[in-house]
Amino acid sequence: MSVIDPQPPAPGSTDAAQAALHDRIAADSLTTRRDYLRIVATVSGGLAVGGVAVASGILHRHGDGEGPPEPKRIADRIAPGESLAFRYPGAEDRAIAVRMDDGTLAGYSAVCTHLACAVLWRKDRGDEGELYCPCHEGVFDARTGAVTAGPPPRALPKVLLQEREDGSVWAVGTARSGEDAREALCRQQGGDAALCRNAAAPAERSDRP
Ligand code: FES
Repeated sequence: MSVIDPQPPAPGSTDAAQAALHDRIAADSLTTRRDYLRIVATVSGGLAVGGVAVASGILHRHGDGEGPPEPKRIADRIAPGESLAFRYPGAEDRAIAVRMDDGTLAGYSAVCTHLACAVLWRKDRGDEGELYCPCHEGVFDARTGAVTAGPPPRALPKVLLQEREDGSVWAVGTARSGEDAREALCRQQGGDAALCRNAAAPAERSDRP
């Protein structure tokens, strides 16, 4: 019986093959690491730029359009304690309407002024409900849109609402963060004194149903 010993590789070939393999692994892992770092840098850079842009109001925001937006019927009726998500003035502009228990109707942009997450209505929080952003626990006053907790840097811009005699609710304009309804309507109507005088401030009135 013969035993065949494993044949040793030719002198020098093992070292060369190992060196080549090592170089390839090193090159691959370097590329992977570089790619990874590039992706991380791109994503965090994008988030940082987006965050700064949203926080400073550089991106499109409610109330930036030319002239007054077209009125839009958003509901047949909104009962006390109810909220309604809708889009206004554009198809991409998320908005929310809430009616508090005392009948006050208020409308806001539903885009959080921190990092643009969707703002929700929490009826059972506080004395009369609150507008809440779940991303970083941002909270806004339902009556004014002002920030009451969390990191949002600015109040929610208002969407001006009007309730008509048949109970239907209409969005009729937009205001910038911190701007009241009358100022917003005047600005959108070109500051015409007569129009400004006659302009209602629909989002700020309290209509008991
Ligand atoms: S995105 Fe709303 S609190 Fe951060």
